[in-house]
Amino acid sequence: MTKMLVTGGAGFIGANFVHYTLKHKPEYDVTVIDKLTYAGNPDNLKSILDQVNFVTGDICDRELMDKLVAETDIVVHFAAESHNDNSLREPWPFVETNIIGTYTILEAVRKHDKRLHHISTDEVFGDLELDDPNRFTEETPYNPSSPYSSTKAGSDHLVRAWIRSFGIKATISNCSNNYGPYQHIEKFIPRQITNILSDIKPKLYGTGEQVRDWIHVDDHNSAVHLIIEQGKLGDTYIIGADNDHVNNKAVIELICELMGKGADWYEHVNDRPGHDMRYAMNSTKLRTELGWQPQYTDQDGMRNGLQATIDWYTENDEWWKAEKAKVEAKYAEQGQ
Ligand code: NAD
Ligand code: TYD
Repeated sequence: MTKMLVTGGAGFIGANFVHYTLKHKPEYDVTVIDKLTYAGNPDNLKSILDQVNFVTGDICDRELMDKLVAETDIVVHFAAESHNDNSLREPWPFVETNIIGTYTILEAVRKHDKRLHHISTDEVFGDLELDDPNRFTEETPYNPSSPYSSTKAGSDHLVRAWIRSFGIKATISNCSNNYGPYQHIEKFIPRQITNILSDIKPKLYGTGEQVRDWIHVDDHNSAVHLIIEQGKLGDTYIIGADNDHVNNKAVIELICELMGKGADWYEHVNDRPGHDMRYAMNSTKLRTELGWQPQYTDQDGMRNGLQATIDWYTENDEWWKAEKAKVEAKYAEQGQ
């Protein structure tokens, strides 16, 4: 068995990754390290907790990370502060976890000569104009806008520097916006689904013309496994499912339609300061070199993926209900 340490495995993508790994990749013996911040929920792993080793801890804890990394074969690094709106209210946790946490992991990986896969985001590239025909590639220069994206950019630069200066065995992936089960209800899609389930109108920032290149979380995680197994050490891979034609307004309208509300049953609220306009991914390298294919691909793919996500939040209301009022109260303070 290959020993795999998953950081942030109680969060949205990390938990889905652990479920995916146990289901499709039985050759891994999985340990999760997670600080259980507001975004981490051990219930995300409830049905499989007896099949993984779970450690509650902070990736900034040098002694702990040294020990855990020494005991593993590969580290898959998801742990981060991940929400832009929170980073605008309070940037420090983003600097601490995303930069110092990644540095701490890099030093342990260097010392014990272990394989690392670092999870990053498209937001490190900044944004594109709506009419720009280009998409982000592995060569696009970094130009982050928010405390979140700039600290993720910082962590990517650290990984690159440790690859070049110390020869660590690492790969990096930059993925677009994910959706699917277990996503915190502060994020766009689950917020609107749980709004409708709570009889609250969905909230669209500004005009809603912003575009995100939505990808289902299982497609992200299938790509991560492929990169771990076949990716070239030292390389970066863009992950995206070619959904960059759907703007936020269209996503809200589709959610309203799928949930039996009129397509205009939503309201416009204050825009996000510095709001990035458009993200779009060119995942040609991943597709041609490693043969990756997403399962949820186009407008219909998003419709199917959204329907499955709506079903999940409807069937699992005990997972989010207790949090809902608190999350909405925080947004209300910002007029959102
Ligand atoms: P999330 O906020 O749902 O989960 C983050 C997890 O990390 C939580 O379980 C939290 O408790 C844990 N964590 C936070 N600080 C920690 C620390 N100091 N030590 C240990 N654990 C800590 O985030 P997510 O959406 O699952 O994102 C996971 C990764 O994927 C992040 O690196 C993010 O930048 C990246 N990413 C996210 C998206 C997206 O759309 N959500 C897209 C591309 C990339
Ligand atoms: P979000 O899920 O926060 O992801 P990110 O900031 O990483 O892209 O937001 C996705 C998009 O949806 C972004 O353009 C902001 C917008 N948005 C809304 O219109 N309403 C909302 O309630 C939220 C949370 C986001």
